[in-house]
This record gives sequence, structure tokens and C-alpha cells, in this order.
Amino acid sequence: MKDVECIEFLQWCLPRLRLRWPGFRKVHKQVCKRLSTRLRERGLPGLSAYQDYLGDHPDEWQTLDSFCQITISRFYRDRGVFDTVRSQILPALAENVRAWGEKELLCWSAGCCSGEEPYTMQIIWKAAVIPAIHCDLPLRIIATDTNQNLLERAQKGRYLKSSLRDLPEELAQQAFERSGKCYMIRRPFMENIVFMRQDIREHLPEERFHLILCRNLVFTYFDAELQQGIFEKISEKLVPGGFLVIGIHEALPRIAQDFVPYKKMPCIYQKVRS
Ligand SMILES: C[S@@+](CC[C@H](N)C(=O)[O-])C[C@H]1O[C@@H](n2cnc3c(N)ncnc32)[C@H](O)[C@@H]1O
Repeated sequence: MKDVECIEFLQWCLPRLRLRWPGFRKVHKQVCKRLSTRLRERGLPGLSAYQDYLGDHPDEWQTLDSFCQITISRFYRDRGVFDTVRSQILPALAENVRAWGEKELLCWSAGCCSGEEPYTMQIIWKAAVIPAIHCDLPLRIIATDTNQNLLERAQKGRYLKSSLRDLPEELAQQAFERSGKCYMIRRPFMENIVFMRQDIREHLPEERFHLILCRNLVFTYFDAELQQGIFEKISEKLVPGGFLVIGIHEALPRIAQDFVPYKKMPCIYQKVRS
């Protein structure tokens, strides 16, 4: 399949899935590869035949939607963000949570992929924050993703070295042990994380959180209207004074009341206490 054909097809189908092409520009080859496999499986000669196939088989749209879920992640992705979360956000939240008389700090990782993001949080918390602030507050993490295979991989906690390349060495040493070509996350860093299959377009966790990470998902791939609707729901899931972290190339929808950027970080926001 030629790249231009695939791009043309994506520009046709993405808006119909309430997704946006600009989000896929850099990563579209992952989707094109899946489409090539699908054409082979169905014995279809090309994407215009697949367009007809979609017309005749409405259920195929769901399969196509799953092809458009980009699955790129790694530990401590975007170092500057996690440096700030580690040195400022988590210590500040720990203090607030204690002052509010609560017993745990609650975090949601939305679109958690194979666990890289929620495990990064637990590694930071246990290996860096707790020793620095001398408190025994637990960090509980709800990690959601729509892809069952990724969630199963997350639960195994087994990664290639490339996934760890942004993780500071001293944290990697504490949190992982080598197993052949792979790296296994050590037990204590797997505790207090619940992985759940959830499509953020349909369901959100029941809890209200002190910290929500919603990075490289809603505000990259979804169309503007869907972004706005989901943002409003996410906002309700955050306690006043809590923090929302989005991807470094992302922006909140224009009508994002009650959120102020944290210092100079363009991707960390605090929900104002009204
Ligand atoms: C590009 S990855 C980002 C992973 C991680 N948040 C990060 O920034 O490294 C996007 C993740 O969102 C998941 N995802 C895609 N669509 C979703 C949806 N509708 N609901 C929940 N998760 C979704 C994908 O399966 C994938 O794991």
C-alpha cells in the first residue's frame, strides 16, 4: 500500500470516527500497517475496496476504530514533565492530601498502554518522593485503557530495554531486575495499581482523583467536540486543587474554565479551588 493512498483513506475515515488527522500525521504508519494486514486477511485488493467493504459491513467500523489506537509509550516519557511531577506536584499533593485529612493520594492514568505511565508514577512515588518527604501516605493508581492485550502486558510488568531509555538510571536500578533480554518491574512497584479496561469515550472510573494523567490520547487523536465533552467529564473527576497532566504537544480545549497552568509548564494544570 502506498503511503499517499493510506493518508487519503485516513483523511476520509478519521472524521467519521470522530478522530482528527493532524494527531495521526507523525504516527499514521502504525495504522497503515494494520490496514495492510486487514486487506490481506479479507482478500481485498486495496483501500477503495476496503471502503466498499465498510459500506457493506457496518461492524467493520469498530475494527477500524481499534486500528486507529496508537500504542506508543515508555517509562518517564517527556522527562521534564516527570521531573516536575516528582519534585513539585507529588510533594505538594501529599501535603494537601494530609491537610485535607485523607488517607491516600489517588491518581488516574487514562490510556495507560502497557503500564509504562502508571508504573512510572509508582516508581517515582516509592523510590523518590516518599524518601524525600518522609511520609507513609499510599499512592493508589487506577490505570485504564481500551486495549485488553496492552492491559495483559501491563500486568506482566515485563519490558524491553528501549522502554526504559528515559527513566533516570537510579530509578531504573531500584525498580527493575533483568530477566534475559527483558526487564521485570519489581513487586513493590506493582502494588496499589488497578488496571481496568475502559473506553474513555464511554466510561470513566468512579473515583475522584487528586491527579489525572491524560497524555497522548484525547487531546491528540479525538476531534474537537469529543475533546470538549471528555474534558468536561475528566474535570468532574478531579478534586479542586488537583492536577491534570496532558501531553507536551497537547492543549486543553478552548473552553477550559477552572484550570490554571502550573508555573511555566504548558502541560500541567491545576484545578482551581472555588
Ligand atoms: C499513544 S498511547 C499513550 C500512552 C501513555 N498515556 C503515554 O503518554 O505514554 C495511547 C493509549 O491510549 C489507548 N486508547 C486509545 N483509545 C482509547 C480510548 N478510547 N479509551 C481508552 N484508551 C484508549 C491506546 O490503547 C494506547 O494505549
